[in-house]
This record gives sequence, C-alpha cells and structure tokens, in this order.
Amino acid sequence: MPQPENILDNGGKVIVRTHRLSFKGRGIRATLLSLLLLACGYMTLAADAKKDETVPVAKMRKNDLTPIPDLQKPVSAHSPYQDGDCSLCHQNKDRTNPGAIIKQVNALCLDCHDDFGKVMARKYSHVAARVNCVSCHNPHNAKQPKLLVEESGALCLSCHTAISNLVTNAKVKHDALTSDAKCLNCHNPHAANVEHLLTRLPYDLCVGCHGKDGIKDQDGKVLTNMKKLLAENPEQHGPVAGKDCSACHTPHGGNNFRLLTKEYPAQFYSPYDPKLYDLCFDCHESSMVKDAKTTTLTKFRNGDQNLHYVHVNKDERGRTCRACHEVHASKQKHQIRDAVPYGKTGYMLKVNFTQTATGGSCAQTCHLTRSYTNSVVPLVPKKTDSDLPKSP
Ligand code: HEC
Ligand code: HEC
Ligand code: HEC
Ligand code: HEC
Ligand code: HEC
Ligand code: HEC
Ligand code: HEC
Ligand code: HEC
Ligand code: HEC
Repeated sequence: MPQPENILDNGGKVIVRTHRLSFKGRGIRATLLSLLLLACGYMTLAADAKKDETVPVAKMRKNDLTPIPDLQKPVSAHSPYQDGDCSLCHQNKDRTNPGAIIKQVNALCLDCHDDFGKVMARKYSHVAARVNCVSCHNPHNAKQPKLLVEESGALCLSCHTAISNLVTNAKVKHDALTSDAKCLNCHNPHAANVEHLLTRLPYDLCVGCHGKDGIKDQDGKVLTNMKKLLAENPEQHGPVAGKDCSACHTPHGGNNFRLLTKEYPAQFYSPYDPKLYDLCFDCHESSMVKDAKTTTLTKFRNGDQNLHYVHVNKDERGRTCRACHEVHASKQKHQIRDAVPYGKTGYMLKVNFTQTATGGSCAQTCHLTRSYTNSVVPLVPKKTDSDLPKSP
C-alpha cells in the first residue's frame, strides 16, 4: 500500500480514483495502478470527458456597475472611489462624466492590488477571475460585503447552473453548500494550489466539518464523528487510507443515499439485487457474491461454500455489506466491524470476529459460534441456511 502522502503529493491533483480490484486468492492491488494512470494523465482525460457532457459555464457576468447612491446605504465601498477622484481609473476627474476606464479591467485592478498577481499565479486559477474581476465585484461600492455584486452563494450559482440544479433538486442535499460561507467553505473564488480551487485537500475539508459530535442529517439523524472514527480505528479502507472521500461521495448533492456516487442500500437488510451494490462493485468484483460455490472469488468461504453468497444473495432479508463491514475504518482486519445495531433501539451487539490462519469465526451474535476455513476442505459440516437463528 503506498503511503497516502505519495498519493497526495501530486502537485495538488487529488483525484486518486481506485479502479476495479480483482480478487485472485491473495492480496489485491489497485492503488498503485491508479497512481500510474494518474501519472499518465488518464484521470485528467476522464475528468475532461465527464465535464464535456454538461452545459458550458458562462465566463462573464454582465452587471450594472453604476455607483450606488449613498442614500441606498451601500454595505461596502472601494477606497479609491470614496476618495472621489474618478480619474484613478477613468479618463476624467469629472464625477458627472468620468468617461471610459484607462486600462483593460483586470490590468487596472492588478495595478493597485499587486499582491493579487501572486494569488492569481497559484497553480489553479478561476477562469471567471482571469477573465474579468468585475463579473463579481463592483469597482465603486456594493450592497454586499467585499464589493460583491450579489450575495456570494447566489453569485456562484448564477454561472454554475448544473450545481444550482443540484442545490435545488438533489434528493440528498449537503448543507455544506448552503450554510456559513457556502461555496467558500471549500473553494477560493480566485485561485488555489489544490485542484478545483479547493482551499484545502478535500479530506481535510471533509474531516474538518465532520470532526464534531452531533451533526444531524436532513432527517435529524446524528452523523458519525468521522475524525474520531478514523482516529480510533486503525484499519482504514483503501480509498479512505488514500484520503479520497470523493471516491465514494459527491460533495455538492446527489440522488443516492448518503451522497454516494453510486447506489448502495440504505437499510441493514435488503433483497439481493446487484444494482444496489454498484458502489462497492465499481471497485470490487461482483462475482464474489454471485456464485454459491467458489475456491477463488473470496476468502469468506468455508471450503468451497461462498459465505458472501450465503449472507448477501437472498431474495429477502439479504444482509447488506454493513452487517459485517465498516466501510470507513475498523479495528479488525478486512473492515470487519466490532458490533452491529440490534433491533429498534439500535443497541450495539458485539460481532466477536476472530481471524485464524485459514479463515475465521464469528461468535454468539447473529448465530452460535461458526467458523470457516478458506482452505479447500470445509472446517465443519455444512448446515443449511434455515438452521440459522433469527438475525438482528
Ligand atoms: C477603482 C477604479 C474605479 C474608480 C476609482 C472609479 N471607477 Fe467607475 N468604473 C470602473 C470600472 C472597472 C468600470 C467598468 C468598466 C467596464 O466594464 O468597461 C466602471 C464603470 C463605471 C460606470 C459605468 C457603469 C456600467 O455599468 O457600465 C460609471 C457610471 C462609473 N464607473 C462612474 C464612476 C464615477 C462617477 C467615479 C468617481 C466618483 C468612478 N466611476 C470611479 C472603475 C472605477
Ligand atoms: C487606485 C488603486 C486601486 C485600484 C485601481 C483598485 N483597487 Fe481595490 N482597493 C484599493 C484599496 C486601497 C483598497 C482597500 C485596501 C484595504 O482595505 O486593504 C481596495 C480594496 C478592494 C476590495 C476589498 C473591499 C472590502 O470591502 O474589503 C476589493 C474586493 C477590491 N479592492 C477590488 C478591486 C477590483 C475588482 C479592482 C479593479 C476593478 C480594484 N479593486 C482596483 C485600491 C485599488
Ligand atoms: C467569481 C467571483 C469573483 C471574481 C471573478 C473575483 N472575485 Fe474577488 N472576491 C470574490 C469573493 C466571493 C470574495 C470574498 C471572499 C471572502 O469573503 O472570503 C472576494 C474578495 C476579494 C478581495 C478582498 C480580499 C480580502 O481578503 O478582503 C479582493 C481584493 C478581491 N476579491 C479582488 C479581486 C480581483 C483583483 C479580481 C480579478 C483578478 C477578483 N477579485 C475577481 C469573488 C470574486
Ligand atoms: C461569471 C461566471 C462565473 C461565476 C460568477 C463563478 N464562476 Fe466558477 N467558473 C466559471 C467558469 C467559466 C469556469 C470554468 C468552467 C470549465 O472549465 O468548465 C469556472 C470554474 C469553477 C470551478 C472549477 C475549477 C476546476 O479547476 O475544476 C470552481 C470550483 C468554481 N468555478 C467555483 C466557483 C465559486 C465558488 C464561485 C463563487 C465565488 C464561482 N465559481 C463563480 C465561471 C463562473
Ligand atoms: C464541502 C465542500 C464543497 C463545497 C461547500 C462546495 N464544493 Fe465544489 N467541489 C468540492 C470538491 C471536493 C470538488 C472536487 C470534486 C471531485 O473531486 O470530484 C468540487 C468541485 C467543484 C467544481 C468543478 C467540478 C464540477 O463538479 O463541476 C465546481 C464548478 C464547483 N465545485 C463549484 C462549487 C459551487 C458553485 C459551490 C457552492 C454552491 C461549491 N462548489 C461548494 C467541494 C465543495
Ligand atoms: C469506499 C467508499 C467510501 C469512502 C472512500 C468514504 N465513504 Fe463515507 N460513506 C460510505 C458509505 C457506503 C456510507 C454509508 C454507510 C452506512 O450507512 O452503512 C458512508 C457514510 C458517510 C457518512 C454518514 C455517516 C453516518 O453516520 O451515517 C459520512 C459523514 C461520511 N460517509 C463521510 C466520509 C468522509 C469524510 C470520507 C473521507 C474520510 C468518506 N466518507 C469516505 C462510503 C465511503
Ligand atoms: C462546511 C462544513 C462541511 C464540510 C466542509 C463537509 N460537510 Fe458533509 N455535512 C455537513 C453538514 C452540516 C451535514 C449534515 C446536514 C446535511 O445532511 O446536509 C453534512 C452531511 C454529510 C453527509 C450525509 C448526507 C445525508 O443527508 O445523508 C455526508 C455523506 C457528508 N456530509 C460527506 C461529506 C464529505 C465527503 C465532505 C468532503 C467533500 C463533506 N461532507 C464536507 C457539513 C460539511
Ligand atoms: C473506489 C474504490 C473502492 C470502492 C468504491 C470500494 N472499495 Fe473496498 N477496497 C478498495 C481498496 C483499494 C481496498 C484495499 C485493498 C488492499 O489493500 O489490498 C479495499 C478493501 C476492501 C475490504 C478489505 C479487504 C481485505 O481483505 O482487507 C473490504 C471488506 C471492502 N473493501 C469492502 C467494500 C465495500 C463493502 C464497499 C462498498 C460499500 C467497497 N469496499 C467499496 C477500494 C474500493
Ligand atoms: C456476514 C458477514 C459479511 C457480509 C454480509 C459481507 N462480508 Fe465481506 N467479508 C466478510 C469476512 C468475514 C471477510 C474476511 C474473509 C477472510 O479473509 O477471512 C470478508 C472479506 C471481504 C473482502 C475481501 C476479499 C474477500 O472476498 O475475501 C471484500 C472485498 C468484501 N468482503 C466485500 C464485501 C461486500 C462488497 C459485501 C456486500 C455486498 C460484503 N463483503 C458482505 C464478511 C462479510
């Protein structure tokens, strides 16, 4: 497993998408592959192809930039304008007839704001800011702070119509876009050293907000403190160890449970339908839950009996992956969780998974202690499924 630092130290490029893994009996490796692909620029190509499907974003905004009369109580005012000498920027001193401006707009702004030259020279700069500062700022005064022509969230959405559509219509919304500084919670409006104008690496942004107890989702359900979870559970899932939260989550809102990029069942039990696991099987081989018998597709098998199939592949009450795996991080290997919520109260019942050299066992939770061996000979005589006591 490459160090996360290696993954991130890619000049601000942070999209490390982990590609389909195939399980061939022993370890699996894909992160290295994705790094290679990244180095070859494949990721950038893929991202560009995706972008092309969306409506082009306007590069400029036409604003009424006429100075706002003092009677209308502007919230911010530009000091050179306040000084009253229109000729700092216009051809004439005359307030009633200032005439055209003396230079192309951005050159004019950067003359005084020379520190902004450095800002705009960061690795990634905003097309809108490169093209025209007055798409967003009134050079005289404004009814918004920082000379903004419109409230900042609405300002961003006025050009970014695809995201505006998500903010309004997504089934699962993300308050990060509409609370506090809105888009600026994560983005710099001018330029940044992290890809996509992000103020910090996405992982740090996500964990920054999701490092508190008591954040509630749209239905009032309290969300896990991710910072604490990650600190207390050393066995991190591949993409989480790679600090790539966006491998599975869309930041701006979406139609899947928990802002996931692909489908994943919302409930503990679910009738088996491979489509519901698109998220997991985007990277893992779906054959691991499809074939009843195997000696190669999974190590969660007893001899040749596929225990992933036994648990997941059911017409009713199939156990979803979360019955056994904690998708972000766990204390046990293989992302096996310590406990599962039981019944209506959500009381946490210990799973008691024990790893052995050739398999493992689960004790006294969903059923009496059961062991499996992933050598070819089964460890215990097979029982039929109907022997299983009722699970939580
Ligand atoms: C800091 C520079 C700056 C100063 C100082 C300044 N302006 Fe402007 N002004 C601009 C820019 C930039 C534009 C936009 C020009 C463009 O887009 O072509 C503008 C446009 C205007 C417009 C046209 C508005 C529109 O929507 O087309 C008026 C009217 C105007 N200024 C009046 C004034 C007056 C009066 C003063 C002095 C009291 C003044 N300006 C001082 C930078 C300045
Ligand atoms: C003649 C010099 C001059 C020019 C030209 C100029 N600015 Fe400024 N600008 C200033 C000064 C001085 C301040 C106040 C600096 C401070 O408070 O740190 C300022 C402040 C600002 C602020 C912050 C306002 C606030 O409320 O905090 C913005 C935004 C800004 N300028 C945008 C622009 C844009 C956009 C242009 C080009 C259209 C421009 N400036 C051109 C001198 C200039
Ligand atoms: C896409 C909209 C947008 C464009 C284009 C844009 N800005 Fe800004 N600018 C903002 C926003 C939003 C803020 C407020 C940031 C904040 O509150 O943290 C801001 C803040 C500023 C400030 C105040 C910084 C401070 O820390 O107080 C200055 C100065 C400024 N912009 C200058 C410029 C210059 C110069 C350009 C052109 C090179 C430009 N802006 C183009 C959106 C824009
Ligand atoms: C005047 C229109 C306009 C406004 C207003 C605007 N943008 Fe943009 N933005 C653009 C354009 C054009 C692009 C480049 C689009 C592309 O490459 O497909 C862009 C690109 C971006 C990108 C992607 C950069 C990347 O490398 O992928 C981000 C992030 C972004 N804008 C954020 C914002 C935020 C935050 C605001 C509000 C402060 C904002 N934009 C306001 C026009 C605008
Ligand atoms: C919670 C953090 C967060 C907030 C808040 C946020 N973004 Fe983003 N944004 C991201 C991340 C992370 C990416 C990179 C996406 C990826 O890696 O797939 C991104 C990418 C983008 C892009 C380029 C790719 C694309 O999807 O088009 C644009 C444009 C953009 N954001 C605009 C906005 C606007 C406009 C807002 C406010 C309405 C906003 N963002 C709010 C985190 C955020
Ligand atoms: C491999 C895919 C994957 C990655 C990578 C991932 N997540 Fe998740 N995340 C999920 C899934 C699946 C769920 C739903 C879990 C469930 O309900 O069983 C989820 C749920 C969540 C939730 C809701 C938790 C709750 O209490 O219900 C938050 C918050 C979250 N993820 C944040 C993050 C952050 C922050 C990162 C990066 C550190 C991240 N995720 C990385 C797949 C992922
Ligand atoms: C500015 C703070 C902030 C940032 C940054 C942030 N979040 Fe959130 N997030 C929230 C809040 C508040 C909620 C709860 C309200 C809601 O669901 O929108 C939430 C909810 C969520 C949920 C559950 C959504 C649901 O309703 O099922 C997931 C998953 C999530 N965030 C993932 C992420 C990921 C991944 C990132 C980084 C790209 C991130 N968040 C960055 C504030 C933030
Ligand atoms: C973006 C790609 C990606 C997605 C999506 C993904 N995984 Fe993974 N998964 C990985 C990587 C990479 C590893 C680490 C493999 C390694 O280290 O050999 C891994 C490892 C695992 C492991 C531990 C394997 C072991 O033996 O230690 C489990 C269990 C697992 N994933 C379950 C899931 C589940 C359940 C889902 C869906 C909720 C899922 N994964 C979605 C990439 C992904
Ligand atoms: C009943 C518990 C259980 C359920 C439900 C379950 N797993 Fe597993 N899984 C395990 C155990 C135990 C292992 C460890 C096998 C070993 O190496 O001994 C494992 C291993 C894995 C591995 C590592 C490779 C392998 O197959 O050995 C992946 C990937 C994985 N599971 C993904 C998933 C996905 C995706 C789902 C949901 C579709 C899922 N699991 C559902 C118990 C479960």
